[in-house]
Amino acid sequence: MHVLVTGGAGYIGSHAVLLLLEAGHKVSVFDNLSNSSPESLRRVREMSGSAPDLFIGDLLDSDRLDSVLSQTQPDAVIHFGGLKAVGESVQKPISYYQNNVVGTLNLVSAMEKAGVKRLVFSSSATVYAESTELPLVEGAQRDASNPYGRTKLHIEQILEDLAVSDSSWSIATLRYFNPVGAHPSGNIGEDPQGIPNNLMPFIAQVAVGRRSEVQVFGNDYPTYDGTGVRDYIHVMDLAQGHLDALDFLNSHNGQYVWNLGTGSGTSVLDVIGAFSRACGRQLPYKLVDRRPGDIAEYYGDPTTARLELGWKAERGVEEMARDMWEWQSKNPAGYPDYDLDGISEEEINEFIRGARASIVKEK
Ligand code: NAD
Ligand code: UD1
Repeated sequence: MHVLVTGGAGYIGSHAVLLLLEAGHKVSVFDNLSNSSPESLRRVREMSGSAPDLFIGDLLDSDRLDSVLSQTQPDAVIHFGGLKAVGESVQKPISYYQNNVVGTLNLVSAMEKAGVKRLVFSSSATVYAESTELPLVEGAQRDASNPYGRTKLHIEQILEDLAVSDSSWSIATLRYFNPVGAHPSGNIGEDPQGIPNNLMPFIAQVAVGRRSEVQVFGNDYPTYDGTGVRDYIHVMDLAQGHLDALDFLNSHNGQYVWNLGTGSGTSVLDVIGAFSRACGRQLPYKLVDRRPGDIAEYYGDPTTARLELGWKAERGVEEMARDMWEWQSKNPAGYPDYDLDGISEEEINEFIRGARASIVKEK
């Protein structure tokens, strides 16, 4: 298949692009590089032996989307592109609704014009209403408590309406729980800008000495050790779920929703413990107040994905920590920071293909 991957240079996208190339698919990436580097795709090419084509473009530029869709004529689209920081979404709701909701509308409208009607969408467990009934099943009540979450909820509803309006669409909505980890080689991984909001990248930066200690947000929750419990999922398992969803869509029309999680929860203290074992020293932490807006515990029921896709998370928290440590210790400052000013899309693609080493200069 030829798969167009929006946001394919980013954290989860780059792992999915790697698996797609390794499975023999042709991949085009559509990304504005606002939160990623072409270095991730260059490394994906080094690992897989084949390069994706990068189309630098913004989901808000509908002309560009129309022309890339009609030019590439992919068999399917995987849509990772968008903004994802919860705190930032409270400060900049317009930007979040534009990039995520309007960006997705532009994408599906370009797909429709090009006659491409197979779509896998990155949703989030954040669309579930707070619930005491765990594990969360796909039919559980939805609600969102911040603008980021609401963009995901709105997009899910838009895609549902689309599938009802035209039965030739095949749409998979994947609700991710907490993605962590990296490719086991440590060559690609998560490279957050600034202070990481999420637990595992923060711990990883403590482990390499970029931050002094982990702050544990609350130890008086009604959980097994008092700290927050989440369903962490290895990014390689998550990426595999996208390939399985694509396979399913090849023979099914309509709209489907699957939880992608492990089905069990791990506490903050246990994540710190696993990471300490991975890096070989007890990482320092401090118990502090709860983070406003956090809930005690949630984890998903992945049974539907197992039954319908044959997908199951294979890796546990020890492997998540081990692979995250491999990435962070090999790349303590993340990807190199390249200055792409004045460098053309073709030159960046030559860089990704390994045909041009010197054109992309480090800042
Ligand atoms: P990421 O920021 O690493 O990747 C997103 C990619 O989209 C980046 O490469 C960025 O440059 C690109 N992008 C952003 N806005 C764009 C625009 N307007 N036009 C074109 N490209 C644009 O994030 P990620 O962690 O890989 O997340 C991928 C998707 O999964 C997102 O939709 C996110 O909301 C969703 N998700 C992520 C998590 C998580 O914890 N990482 C959890 C649940 C859902
Ligand atoms: C956050 C997002 C959610 C997103 C998910 C993706 C919020 C409110 N929610 O969820 O929308 O889908 O990331 O992974 O931001 N913790 C600490 N110390 C830290 C950081 C976190 O103790 O420095 C704790 C938190 O209180 C929580 C757990 O670690 O109990 C996980 O936190 P985090 O990684 O931020 O994920 P979520 O809050 O589950």
